[in-house]
Amino acid sequence: MKIAVVGSTNMDLVYRVPHIVKSGETLHSTEHQLFFGGKGANQAVTAGQLGADVHFIGNVGEDNFGEQIKENMQSKGVNVQAIQQIGSTGQAIIQLANSGENAIVLFPGANFLVTPKQINEHKKKIETSKVLLLQLEIPVQVVELAANIAAKKDISIILNPAPAQTIGDTLLSKVSVLTPNETELEVLTGIKAATEGELVQACTILLKKGVKAVVVTLGDKGAFYMSDNGHGYVTVNKVEVKDTTGAGDAFNGALAVAQCYEMSLKESIEYASKVSEYVVTQMGAQPEIPKSFQMNRQ
Ligand code: RIB
Ligand code: NA
Repeated sequence: MKIAVVGSTNMDLVYRVPHIVKSGETLHSTEHQLFFGGKGANQAVTAGQLGADVHFIGNVGEDNFGEQIKENMQSKGVNVQAIQQIGSTGQAIIQLANSGENAIVLFPGANFLVTPKQINEHKKKIETSKVLLLQLEIPVQVVELAANIAAKKDISIILNPAPAQTIGDTLLSKVSVLTPNETELEVLTGIKAATEGELVQACTILLKKGVKAVVVTLGDKGAFYMSDNGHGYVTVNKVEVKDTTGAGDAFNGALAVAQCYEMSLKESIEYASKVSEYVVTQMGAQPEIPKSFQMNRQ
């Protein structure tokens, strides 16, 4: 059940504020917390906690944060052998307003120092995996190279196209499951998909480019999926939301685990939704996930 994750690690600096700071304004934060974050690490740690054999390729900084991130990932079931320490650890400075709104300043730091050479050095880790899990918080050439390595060996590729940016057709053509949210879907297709008809239209564009399946995460509305086998919705239960940071990442990490177990797309989405539903009831992007969520224990 091996999963390779090529991606980012961050420290999330979360500041509770009365409202999102305006230009020129000085605002007092009422509460400050540090959390482990970064889309790549969040997804890897989710999969690790769900019992998969997860190997992470990426960077942390040559600083205390970097050390802490590595230790944390390892303690949550991720193999950190291919993590390089270089530069300074990436930071997400997150303002969390009382309204629930947030605003993020992302300092990529070490994440932008991941190189193709580094990926080639750890090529074997990708080649011997069942699933390769990717996001867009590291240089896109690196993402493309990792996808090429996996595609040559017919390894399934899950690409979470976040944060939103356009992606070349060559990369898209190699993707087994693409998991945009609504904003990312619009950036990729130019379609603001509010209705089912529009979702079908947007996903069709991506399927025509060679993506095998599209799963659009819709927040508390669940997820919409489409492949050549058809389309549909998976709804989610109402939960008491504490912190949605990392909800999408938990979804992707769990989806990768489900795909390793060769569950159907719909079953995989149902499983991923359950895990992500749990994560939003906890603070931070990498909360501890109860063992009851592990696939082999169900
Ligand atoms: O997806 C959530 C993550 O995005 C946070 O953990 C933060 O680090 C940002 O990269
Ligand atoms: Na959370």
